[in-house]
This record gives sequence, C-alpha cells and structure tokens, in this order.
Amino acid sequence: MSPSRKFFVGGNWKMNGDKKSLGELIDTMNSAKVHSDTDVVCAAPAIYLDFARQKLDAKFAVAAQNCYKVAKGAFTGEISPAMIKDCGVTWVVLGHSERRHVFGESDELTGQKVAHALSEGLGVIACIGEKLDQREAGITEKVVFEQTKAIADNVKDWSKVVLAYEPVWAIGTGKTATPLQAQEVHVKLRDWLKSHVSEEVAKSTRIIYGGSVTGGTCKELASQADIDGFLVGGASLKAEFIDIINAKH
Ligand code: PGA
Repeated sequence: MSPSRKFFVGGNWKMNGDKKSLGELIDTMNSAKVHSDTDVVCAAPAIYLDFARQKLDAKFAVAAQNCYKVAKGAFTGEISPAMIKDCGVTWVVLGHSERRHVFGESDELTGQKVAHALSEGLGVIACIGEKLDQREAGITEKVVFEQTKAIADNVKDWSKVVLAYEPVWAIGTGKTATPLQAQEVHVKLRDWLKSHVSEEVAKSTRIIYGGSVTGGTCKELASQADIDGFLVGGASLKAEFIDIINAKH
C-alpha cells in the first residue's frame, strides 16, 4: 500500500457476543501492543455501542454496523447517525453484504444512508462485493462498479470514506480471496475512482479487503500495493485480531 494511506483495520463483531465476552475482548485489545500507524475501528452491535465506546481505549474508534438515512422519526427499530454520535461513536459500516443480501437493502438506499451519515459527520466504511455466481459469470467488475457508483454519487468529502471490497463468497466461508484476486479488484476500483471522481481521491482513499481474513492470511494480503487494510468478521472476536491490526509489522 502507499505510505500516503494510513493502514485501516475494522473489526465487524456482527450480531455476536455479550457484555461478558465483548468486555473480555476489549480488555485483550486495550492491553495489547498495537502499532500507532494503523487506524483501528470496532463495529459493535447497536445495543452495545455505548458499552464498547466506554470500555475501549481511546486509541480505538467504534463504528455502528448500520444506520438509517434520516435524523429521527417514526422508524421503529432503526438508529440514526445523530444517536450514534451521541454515544461518542464516530464511524458507521454501510452497505455490508448481509444488509444487502439478508435484509434486501438496495444500492439506492445504501447511497442515501451514505449521504446522510457523511452530512452528520460520521466516517463511513462503505462495503461492496460480488456474489459467487456473479464472479463466475464474469461480471465482478460490473457489479462492484455499480455499487461504487451508488456510493460515490453521494460523497462530497472522500476523506471520511473507506471503501471495503468484500467478495460475498469469501465472507464467513473460510475462503479468503487470494492476495492477487483481491489486488486485481482493488486496482480496478482505484482506477474507477480516478476516472469517475479524481486522481487525488483515487490516490488517497483507503480500499480495504474483507472476507475470511485471519492472522494467517493478513500479512500477504497486506503486502499488496492497493490493499490498505481489512474489514474482519470472525477473527475480530479473537485475540488474533491483534495480529491483523499489526499485519504491516
Ligand atoms: P469474515 O467477515 O471475516 O467473518 O469473513 C467479514 C465481514 O463480513 O466484514
């Protein structure tokens, strides 16, 4: 990765843990030796955002795993960026494949959420990625470019956006993309940003990889020129998350 882009590692706890187990994980993280040249963000379940923010060391940021597209109102079950900020939380994950494919969230809704979260001052980890049948049909580029466009159309300030490429077939499957497979898509995404946004944004935006990243696979992935970090699910709940944070060392 380019030295101008700070390495970024997100842990996506998904709908896992309780105060006891997350508290233990947080204790492990707080006492670990982590290098300061990496941004670390933990995405906690909504109900534990406050808990996570209060317990995690200030050097770690916290993210919500989703939010709605407006500030408040009659939207039962939803949370807003304003509420997220009220808990001292500074990031939100949007467009995660589970939101798209389990809960049916569209490109359009994802874009609207990105616009609102950014307008409220949150950082956004915006996720994109193709499904296995799409990869096999040779339309990976088409899919990820369309998803990226729906996000990019809603971004004014790219300094608050991290793009997470997460091939759906690699998420939670133990089947990590090879470093070359990931690098190949990351380069294309950077080229897309160059031709559709600007050269500057293409150079400075972190493009992170997600999908079964482990302590064992992270170093080789991190050595690729266009992989600027990770979004980690399963392994972010284990002590090996520290090795992933320190993948560049
Ligand atoms: P995984 O999840 O590391 O468990 O594959 C990644 C993600 O969904 O962000």
